[in-house]
Amino acid sequence: MTRRIAFINEKGGSLKTTLTVNVGGYYALKRKERVLIVDLDPQGHAGKCLGLDVRGAERTVRDLLADPTVHPRDVAIPSRIEGLDVIVSNKSLTNLPLTSDADRDWTERLAKQIDKVRGYDWILFDSPPSLGLLSMNVLLATIEVVIPVNLTFLALDGCAEIVDTIESLKSRYHRPYLGVTLVVPTLYRPTRLANEILDKLGEHFRGRVAKTVIGYNVKIDEAQSHGQTIFEYAPDSAGAEAFAALAKEIKRKGES
Ligand SMILES: Nc1ncnc2c1ncn2[C@@H]1O[C@H](COP(=O)(O)OP(=O)(O)OP(=O)(O)O)[C@@H](O)[C@H]1O
Ligand SMILES: [Mg+2]
Repeated sequence: MTRRIAFINEKGGSLKTTLTVNVGGYYALKRKERVLIVDLDPQGHAGKCLGLDVRGAERTVRDLLADPTVHPRDVAIPSRIEGLDVIVSNKSLTNLPLTSDADRDWTERLAKQIDKVRGYDWILFDSPPSLGLLSMNVLLATIEVVIPVNLTFLALDGCAEIVDTIESLKSRYHRPYLGVTLVVPTLYRPTRLANEILDKLGEHFRGRVAKTVIGYNVKIDEAQSHGQTIFEYAPDSAGAEAFAALAKEIKRKGES
């Protein structure tokens, strides 16, 4: 069965893209599984972090959304990593006529397209830093949600917002299975405030806060500047160890 996971948080810089790319990279590189990453962020960072030319890309997620006759296999681009394909995004995604959130056809457009996808073990969605129509498309196309949470004071607000949105979509669009698989604490520093926020997350998301906490690690930033996953750029780093642990945790969650 294909696992579908969306990495979502309306807060910018919470590590959505970093998680999408490195968790996906782990499954393809280390487990030899088939992974499709779908980028719904007009910033195009997911493809960029994997060394793909997103600005000059001829086929992007925009084509998939704009034209229901386009098949996902026609827009997926193989990455340098065997088994890892990407449907990239770029600025062109900002001028889609995605206007009304009451328009069911538009909100479910990605879901209808993703239903055509075959042959992958994982479909991972990277989302933009907002809960607009593109994120709604992601939430209706996915089965699971992983929320990366930057451990700062305002982070809890963003979490509550996503949970409310998921609850309303579940009933409005008949998605009883949609839910939060894991909340991943990111950019952890051992301060009292960070630990308090971690405790609060634990109360809210009992049993669903990842045991793996992603700390500050400059190697991850460096890897992205080279268009590589952490497993290629610095396989022995603390960052690689953390992302391997997180990928395993996500895998286990689906099995339980
Ligand atoms: N463990 C880490 N330590 C330090 N910096 C990191 C770490 N992981 C990622 N970064 C850097 O933090 C920045 C934000 O990460 P990322 O782009 O994944 O967040 P995002 O949630 O996708 O942001 P956006 O909301 O803009 O899409 C990036 O520049 C990334 O290289
Ligand atoms: Mg991003």
